[in-house]
Parts: sequence; C-alpha cells; structure tokens
Amino acid sequence: MKAHSVIKVEDLVYSYGDHRVLKNVNLTVHAGEFVAIIGENGAGKSTLTRHFNGLLKPLSGRVVVGGEETKHCKVSQLARHVGYVFQNPDHQLFHNTVEKEVAFGVKNLGLSTQTIQDRVAEALQAVGLDEYRDSYPYDLSKGQRQRVALAAVLAMRPEVIVLDEPTTGQDYREMMQIMEMIQVLNQKGHTIIFITHDMALVAEFAKRVIVLCEGKILQDDSVEAVFTCPDFLKQSFLELPSITQLGNGLSHPEISAPFLTVDEAYNTLKPLLGGEAID
Ligand SMILES: Nc1ncnc2c1ncn2[C@@H]1O[C@H](COP(=O)(O)OP(=O)(O)OP(=O)(O)O)[C@@H](O)[C@H]1O
Ligand SMILES: [Mg+2]
Repeated sequence: MKAHSVIKVEDLVYSYGDHRVLKNVNLTVHAGEFVAIIGENGAGKSTLTRHFNGLLKPLSGRVVVGGEETKHCKVSQLARHVGYVFQNPDHQLFHNTVEKEVAFGVKNLGLSTQTIQDRVAEALQAVGLDEYRDSYPYDLSKGQRQRVALAAVLAMRPEVIVLDEPTTGQDYREMMQIMEMIQVLNQKGHTIIFITHDMALVAEFAKRVIVLCEGKILQDDSVEAVFTCPDFLKQSFLELPSITQLGNGLSHPEISAPFLTVDEAYNTLKPLLGGEAID
C-alpha cells in the first residue's frame, strides 16, 4: 500500500516582485520518504521549500499540506505538520538559553507543562546537547546552533522535517552526526526533505532526488536513476560524487547500478579485480 501524501504541490508559481522564481512546479511527497532537493545557487530550492510550511504562499497553483491548502492555514498551524530548519540557524534563535529556545515552539501546542519538559529534554538528548541546556545559544559553535534549531523542530514532533542545507559550515564529524540523526528520524517514520549542494550526502542518505533548475523540476526520481543520467546533472551544473563518476565511467557489464558510496564500489570492484588488487 502506498503511503499517504504529506505534501502536494500543483502548478506552483512564485515571484519576488517581477522576478519569477518558481515556474509551474509539481510534486508529491509521501509519508516516510527521504528526499534531497538539489540545484545550483538561486535555482529556487529555498523558495520552494518555504511553501511547505506556509512561510510563502503561492502566487498561483496550490500547495496542500496535511490535506489542507496552505493559503488557508496559519504558519503556526502548519508547524505541527512541517518543521523547518533554516539555511542559517541564526535566523531562528532568539532566546537566552538553549532550553528556552527548544521549548519555544512546543509551548504553543497546548500541552501540559510536564509534557513540554519531557519533549524538550528528549529533543536535547537526541541532538546531543543536553549538557548545554543552560548555555547561551551564541556561545555554541555554528554546528551546535544548527542542532539547537533542529531540536526545537524535533520537540514539536512534526510529521515532515525540512532542512535547508543542514550541513553547511560544519566540519566532517558534525556533518555526519547531523545526517545520521536525520537518518534515524526517517527510520522512526518522519518524512525528511533536505536541501544540499553535497552530492556525496545525497548518494549516501537520500532515496529520492529532485533536481531544480531555474525554477523548474528537471528530474525527480530515485538517486540511482538521477545519478546514472549525467546529462540532467550537467544541465543543472552539479557534479556527481567522484566514486559515482568512476563507476559510471567504467561502464562495465558487471556494474549494473551506480556506485553511491565507496563501500558499494569496493564490494562490486573487489571480485572483478580478482580479490587481491584493492585489498
Ligand atoms: N526575499 C527575496 N527577495 C527577492 N529575491 C529573492 C528573495 N529570496 C530569494 N530571491 C531570489 O530568488 C532566486 C531563488 O532564490 P532561492 O533562495 O530560492 O534559491 P536557492 O536554490 O535556495 O539558492 P541557494 O543554493 O543559493 O540557497 C534567487 O535569484 C534569489 O536571489
Ligand atoms: Mg537556499
């Protein structure tokens, strides 16, 4: 049975003044998906996803979230369904302690004080920041502030979590921590939509990829399908991970699917090379 749709975008058009940024975008996201949205700078990725929680409303077309058209909904109402972690966490941190920051959104859900406290504690633990609950958010690193913003979203337990470039400005360890955390949330049933410029992260974590180019969807398919179709990526000025380029370039009959990770490449190539060559 196909999962229910959590976000439906129909013929979405959006402009800033007379600058048309989204040009008839159509897509449906189903519950439980793990979707990457990619495309060059200015392609319209953030503008598109800001429609998912009602921060932007369509100029024409429709965006339906949790069965309701966003133009009829308040942002606070949509926040129950769709949590949004901004490209720059500093745009969403306003309080003088990490704990207050994380509690802010969840306090608006009409829950008991105890439930709010439990949710905040759980969210801080999930992002590994419980020992910083009394810290001033701006004393933390950028990577930690990004995780405070993620915790604030987690505490609200939205069905869908949108992350706009969650790993920018983080070192490798912080980046993998965030991605692994997001992966666990997806395994627990949350729908994940993340924007990234990092094709290696798309390859390793996403299942579906939407390529946006100048406000239009160029491709919307499984990661395997998009990553074996380099023309689309060329058109959108994106570069495949080196390991995927290597596999695609070999065009060997025994290589039936693109390499998405070094482990996959290793496991496929090792027997082809007689076992010893890359040991
Ligand atoms: N508030 C705004 N007012 C006017 N123009 C804007 C505004 N926000 C974005 N734009 C313009 O709209 C276009 C799409 O921007 P958007 O931020 O959606 O792109 P993006 O794909 O998220 O890019 P990036 O990868 O750089 O984050 C760009 O040309 C941008 O300059
Ligand atoms: Mg953006």
